Amino acid sequence: MSRLTIRQPDDWHLHLRDGSMLRSVLPSTSETFARAIVMPNLVPPVVTAKDAAAYKDRILAAIPEEHGFTPLMTLYLTEDTDADDLAHAYTSGLVTAVKLYPAGATTNSNSGVRNIENVIPVLERMAEIGMPLLVHGEVTTHEVDIFDREAVFIDTILDPLRRRIPSLRVVMEHITTKQGVDYAKSGDDNLAATITTHHLILNRNHLLVGGIRPDYYCLPIVKSEDHRLALREAATSGSPKFFLGTDSAPHTEANKICACGCAGIFTAINTMSCLAHVFAEEGALDKLEAFTSLNGPAFYGMAPNENTIDLVKSDDPIKFPRQIWSEDGPVTVFDPGFELFWKVEK
Ligand code: DOR
Ligand code: ZN
Repeated sequence: MSRLTIRQPDDWHLHLRDGSMLRSVLPSTSETFARAIVMPNLVPPVVTAKDAAAYKDRILAAIPEEHGFTPLMTLYLTEDTDADDLAHAYTSGLVTAVKLYPAGATTNSNSGVRNIENVIPVLERMAEIGMPLLVHGEVTTHEVDIFDREAVFIDTILDPLRRRIPSLRVVMEHITTKQGVDYAKSGDDNLAATITTHHLILNRNHLLVGGIRPDYYCLPIVKSEDHRLALREAATSGSPKFFLGTDSAPHTEANKICACGCAGIFTAINTMSCLAHVFAEEGALDKLEAFTSLNGPAFYGMAPNENTIDLVKSDDPIKFPRQIWSEDGPVTVFDPGFELFWKVEK
């Protein structure tokens, strides 16, 4: 097969940042994707409905005229979140979901949740109104090894929480382990999981063997090969539990390559080419549309996009820029480590 037509994809987990960086990175997404769930981990974070409305306006102002794109806003859950403000933000249609960052788990998560008990009333309210909770599923306790943080989170936080509030709709964001895949599969219709492009391609050898590769450092950290294979099986299975959330997370080169480099991989620009490559390798191109364009809207109770895109396989490798430029400095584009041949045509 050398041409595949699918409904226009959506990105169910995206970092757009703000200011100059927002203007630099947004077109890479809006060129191809119709909608994206926009992460709220700005500095300061997007906590209230008012914050979300202002951020949405800044995003809308940055969309190139020729692109049709809808940002789906999220709120950053804190231990002080006001349940009424959050519920109103959801029922008015301003906000689509709430993001739970365990404090200290990742970039700009310091205002996140330290003790889940302190947000139970807000989560109960969300369950009542059907508002999804998007979970960064890693514990942050120092005793727990960084490679085990997802599995321990599932056992000690997520599973007890879902037993306590079974009607809460939960998306396990950017799962990276077999345990994550198995847990998502074991849940009812209130549970789903996003998978990133880079976790389908990288294992921890890519990050660490032959020299450290800061551009492959992200959170949750890439895992061993058996976990990567489990993610590939899940993503290409067609199961409605799994859909694309790129977690495309731009940082300047200076913030990536330094003594304490930031976590995040900028994949927005070549994600669809990478995914077509992965799905073709797995003999599952017929499942790509489910992963990128159907399963996400179905979970969120939205219609899939009416427009279509074509993925066309060329004979010669496609060239992507090595970096894109922002006023803050260059941002390195994800290098999958192999040539890409699938090009998006709209
Ligand atoms: O790698 C990551 N980068 N993981 C996250 O959870 C956050 C993100 C970011 O905002 O840079
Ligand atoms: Zn993220």
